Amino acid sequence: MRLPLIVAASLALGTHALAEGEHGLDLSALPDVGTVAPEDGLAAWDSIHMVLTHPRCVNCHVGADNLPLWGTVQAPDRIHGMAINAGESRIGTETISCNACHQTSTRENTVPHAAPQTGMDWRLAPVEFQWTDRSSAEICAQMRDPDRNGGRDEAGLIEHILHDAEVIGFITWSFEPGAGREPAPGSLQAHLEDMAVWTAAGMPCPAG
Ligand code: HEC
Ligand code: HEC
Repeated sequence: MRLPLIVAASLALGTHALAEGEHGLDLSALPDVGTVAPEDGLAAWDSIHMVLTHPRCVNCHVGADNLPLWGTVQAPDRIHGMAINAGESRIGTETISCNACHQTSTRENTVPHAAPQTGMDWRLAPVEFQWTDRSSAEICAQMRDPDRNGGRDEAGLIEHILHDAEVIGFITWSFEPGAGREPAPGSLQAHLEDMAVWTAAGMPCPAG
């Protein structure tokens, strides 16, 4: 009887360690739902909006033309070279697949102007998650709407960031994009805290 119990206990510990540790983020300061005033939630939204509309994020969160961007802070509207079109698949299945150049790898991006690599298969965000040509109020309304954010509630939006950190996905990469690229403003930890404050405040959105 004892052996299975010990095995079960260490398995449970292993799962716990994974859930708490692999993303490397500090969850201890995150507020609980309902404990944040709307003004503080709106201030957090402003910081979130600055991140989302930075070229490192928005270059993939583009509209129905399926054209990825090579935007920089100086030239945010620059379109991806080499006539790349992601197609409705958003991953280039119709023409040339993104991973013909963008590898799926957690290795660091050390070569300026090389195609960036992350731990997730490189692709455009679904078209419902378009952030180009949208106001802060519009992006905010869409981000809190489960029909337009991948079916996520408050906890789901936070979980998305933790999962991204575990696999070195696109959000994590955007804050540490490697050689020759300007990072998204702040840090992944600060973005997580802003998202936790905004969701705990009930996801308030600016007027307009
Ligand atoms: C023929 C090779 C090639 C293919 C195929 C390709 N890319 Fe790229 N991509 C690159 C290169 C090279 C860069 C970096 C350009 C630079 O920094 O000057 C890049 C950069 C990007 C960037 C900008 C990243 C940033 O914020 O700095 C995005 C977004 C992007 N690619 C999306 C895509 C998507 C989506 C696909 C598939 C539909 C795709 N790419 C297919 C070569 C390619
Ligand atoms: C390489 C392209 C790429 C980059 C760069 C990128 N994303 Fe995304 N994003 C995606 C894809 C693909 C999805 C859909 C997958 C999913 O829902 O998990 C997505 C989904 C999301 C979602 C969930 C849907 C929503 O709109 O609420 C959020 C939030 C998000 N991204 C935030 C960011 C932030 C913040 C950054 C920059 C710090 C960023 N993304 C950079 C491709 C990208």
